[in-house]
This record gives sequence, structure tokens and C-alpha cells, in this order.
Amino acid sequence: MKLTMTIFTAAALALSALSTACRCAPAERGAALRVIPAPASIERCEGEFTISPSAVIIAPEEAGAASLRLSSLLSKTEEGPASVAPAGTPCPSDSSCFVLELDPSLAQAGPESYELSVSPEGVELRAPAPAGLFYAAQTLRQMMPAEPGLAASLPCVKISDAPRFRWRGLMLDVSRHFFPKEFVFRMMETMAALKMNTLHIHLTDDQGWRLEIDAFPALTKTGAWRGASSPADELSMSPSGPAHGGFYTKQDMREILRRAAELHITVVPEIEMPGHAVAAIASVPGLSCKGERLKVSTRWGVHKDVYCAGSERVFEFLEIVLGEVAELFPGEIIHVGGDEVPKHNWRQCPKCQERIRAEGLANEEELQGWFMKRIENFLESRGKRIIGWDEIVEGGLPPRAAVMSWRGMEGGITAALEGHDVVMSPTSHCYFDYMQAENGEPRRVGRPIELAKVYGFEPVPPALAGTPAAERIIGAQGNIWTEYIDSEELAEYMTWPRGAALAEVAWSTKETKDYAGFLARLESLLPHFDAMRVNYRRPGPEDGANARF
Ligand code: ACM
Ligand code: ZN
Repeated sequence: MKLTMTIFTAAALALSALSTACRCAPAERGAALRVIPAPASIERCEGEFTISPSAVIIAPEEAGAASLRLSSLLSKTEEGPASVAPAGTPCPSDSSCFVLELDPSLAQAGPESYELSVSPEGVELRAPAPAGLFYAAQTLRQMMPAEPGLAASLPCVKISDAPRFRWRGLMLDVSRHFFPKEFVFRMMETMAALKMNTLHIHLTDDQGWRLEIDAFPALTKTGAWRGASSPADELSMSPSGPAHGGFYTKQDMREILRRAAELHITVVPEIEMPGHAVAAIASVPGLSCKGERLKVSTRWGVHKDVYCAGSERVFEFLEIVLGEVAELFPGEIIHVGGDEVPKHNWRQCPKCQERIRAEGLANEEELQGWFMKRIENFLESRGKRIIGWDEIVEGGLPPRAAVMSWRGMEGGITAALEGHDVVMSPTSHCYFDYMQAENGEPRRVGRPIELAKVYGFEPVPPALAGTPAAERIIGAQGNIWTEYIDSEELAEYMTWPRGAALAEVAWSTKETKDYAGFLARLESLLPHFDAMRVNYRRPGPEDGANARF
């Protein structure tokens, strides 16, 4: 490795007392650290740091999860957990020290940014906010051996890192198949290890309502359970399989939210409307145009029964539900669906037609636009913003709504040009229910979206690159739809390592992206997955460095 002498100025010395002994140079590509997502800037320095048995973590109280995490990480390499001492404690001369420091002077790089310096004398993690310290700890975690009990030494480095996008998401569909809270904890742990920060949880759909709502116990008493599908179901849409059910109590969700906060993850709940609403219509009378009593659906696909847009009862219901959701979830954004809404029933319904007349709307598309705007108004009164799937662009976007572009990039482009925030999540690159290779996969769903395809995703489309509207693309998200994912093992298999590729898309700079390098770094990440008991698909020859999609 080529090293050049770095001249330390007095200011640099003051900032980085622990790294004075290092001689550093920018890391060449091949010598990049085995870390996913690739950090923005890495300098390799001479020497290494060996963790002594008496390692001490010196951290301010606000570092919270970051110092606890480091402590448990170090306990794997030492006899007991490393001790944590308050900020300002001098490093004992016989110990190796991990010093965590909150430094407001770094605020310009954003609250998730961090600087990590490893020198022979110790390790220093600095960030403007606790999230940055947490991510510095995640970087260290990947630099350390995955297996407990191995003596750890770290190469000397200086890393300066910050995310490209602020929404680095995964969506988990818990409606089609329910996944218990413990699985959600695991998913969030794996996400956090890869610096993903948004879990979008798809809580309601035609086949199941998964969140306890105090005012409407029937939503989970009835709506969380579906019977086995019968052969007759096969006539129109594919059957859902055996009887199935489950839901999160409010207490379960509070536990998920507590864990999410420790992991610096925002949970975005999705309450679907006006379509994908059969489980609600089956549970609470008077929500559909025809007023029929439906059953929780036992078929996949798009259902013609949707909430009646002409009925005040529907809005009373939704406002009570969303009021409880807004109170439970601390994040600013609530996902309100908006996708795949057949307009057939609205065309036939006197109440919906009267609404169109009374509001001066042109057609049923505008009726959906009016519906979403009314919901936005309500949620704004509760201090929340909405996000919806890109169909909400068609009926006229509610003024402050964000858009999740899934049918391609077009809906996202239109929304960004109109000044709306956009999360890119197109079926072409981001649908993790689609299979991962043409052959040898457990289920044939969708067309293959290979690892290289996900890695090659560019969330800012050429139409927007270099324009002010590019700033409206706030991130990228992978979607784990679970019609055909009926076990935790399969959910993880479909998610990883594609989720790691997406994590790099969303965090790393365009300039640092390099698929061959990613594959090499992935070889070091997979033992960490093994240690965490996370299932994944091992990349095959078809995923090699020359793969192009
Ligand atoms: C979707 O995949 N229907 C958003
Ligand atoms: Zn109606």
C-alpha cells in the first residue's frame, strides 16, 4: 500500500488527539474497507489498533444506543462487557479506549454523519448527533470479526461519512402474511447494521388488518383473520392458501417503536385507502358503496370493493383510526396507500356521484384526489404528513403529500417537478418479492431482479439529474410484499443481500459505487449475517462482477 506523509496542523491535532501517530493516505479502491454501505471517504493509516482486555468506552449519556452497542460488541471479543465511562474521563494508561464525542461543529454534514478515527492508541467516534455515533459504531462492527471470541485488531483509518439520501427504507407487508414483533425486531436490527433508517410497515389490506384500534375492536377480532381459500377462489384471482391471522396490540407496537428508536429507525405505518380495504369493510358495517357484508379476502390481487367516497361514515371511521395511529407513531409521516383503486363501484354509487357533483369534480380520478386531500387535511391537523403510492399523482396531489413511485419512475418524476418529496421504489429494481435469479429459486414470482440489478439502481432519474427537482428525491426503498412469502426464513432470504445492495444505493455516493468491490465486501458481511442468524441468498455465479442488467 502506498502511504504518503500527512502533515498534521495544530487544529487537526486538537480535533483528533488520538490519531497523532498515524500516517494516512486516501484508500485506493481495491484497498477499501470491508464495510457496506461504502463510506464516503476513507484514508488508510499506518499501523493497527489492538483491543486490550480492559477496553473502556468513554461516551456522553446522549450516545445511548451507540455506546451500549459498542459495549456488547466488545464483550464478544473480551471476557466481559467493556466498561462505559462518562464523557471527559481520561483514558486509563493500561486500557484501549473508544471515545465517543458529540461535536456540534460537524452539523453541516447532517445529523447522521460521523467521523471515525482508528489509531494505534485508540478509536475516536465523532458526530453532530446520536444517530451519527450509532452509525460510526455500525461501521466499527463490520470492521471487527463477525465471530465472537476472535482477538480483534483494527486497521488504522480515518473515515468521514454521511448518507446520500435521508430515506433508506424497507417496506414489510404484514397484511398478506403476519410476522410477529420478534421478526420485526430482527428485520430492524439487520437494517440498522446497514444504516437503513425507515421501516414502512404495510398494516392493512384486503387479506388482513394487523393493528389494534381501541375504538374498533372488530378490526382485529374479525379483520385480522382469514379462512382457508377454496377452489372456487381460483376462478378469478390466485387463492391465499390456508387460514391465517394475527395482529399487533398497541403494546406490541410500542415495543416495536421503542426498539426502532434505539436503532435510529423511523417506523412509517401504512393504513391503505381508498382501496385494498376489504378486511376493514368485513369488520365494520357501512364502509363500502354497496354496504355488503364481505369476508376478509382469501384471494390475492386487486379487489373492486373499496371505501365509499360519498359516505360521511367512512371519513368518521378513518379519522378515528388515523387519530389513534397518529397518536401511537412518533414519526411525522403516515402512509395512506392510494394504489390500485378500481373506480367501478364509485361510478355506480349514488353517494359517490353526489359527492362528485357537490364538490365540482370532473370524474372518479378527481374523486380519489379529493379523498386523499381530505385525509391529508385531517392528518395535518394532527401534525402529520402523508405519503402515498404514485397513483395519488393522477387525481391531483394533496399540497404537502410525498409520493412513493412504484409503477416506474414517472409518477415520482411528475411529483418531484411539482415540488413534492419522492421516494423511489420501482418494480424494476426494488420489489424484493420478485425472484432473485431465473433458475433455482424457491418461488417463481415476478421477473428476476438480480443483486446486480438492485445495485445498479439510480434513484435520481436522468430527467431530473442536475435540476432543483433532483433535491426532491429523498430516497429509495425495497418492498417485501408477502403474498408468496409465508415464513420468516423466506422473508429474510428474499431480502438479503439485495437489501444490502439497496442500502449502498441509498447511503453511498454515486462516485464510490463499484459492483465488484461491493461483492468483495459482501463476502465479509455474510459472516456477520451468519452470526446474527439472519437468512440470506448466497450470490451465485450469475451474480458475478460481470453481471449486467
Ligand atoms: C403496489 O405494489 N401495489 C404499491
Ligand atoms: Zn360510494
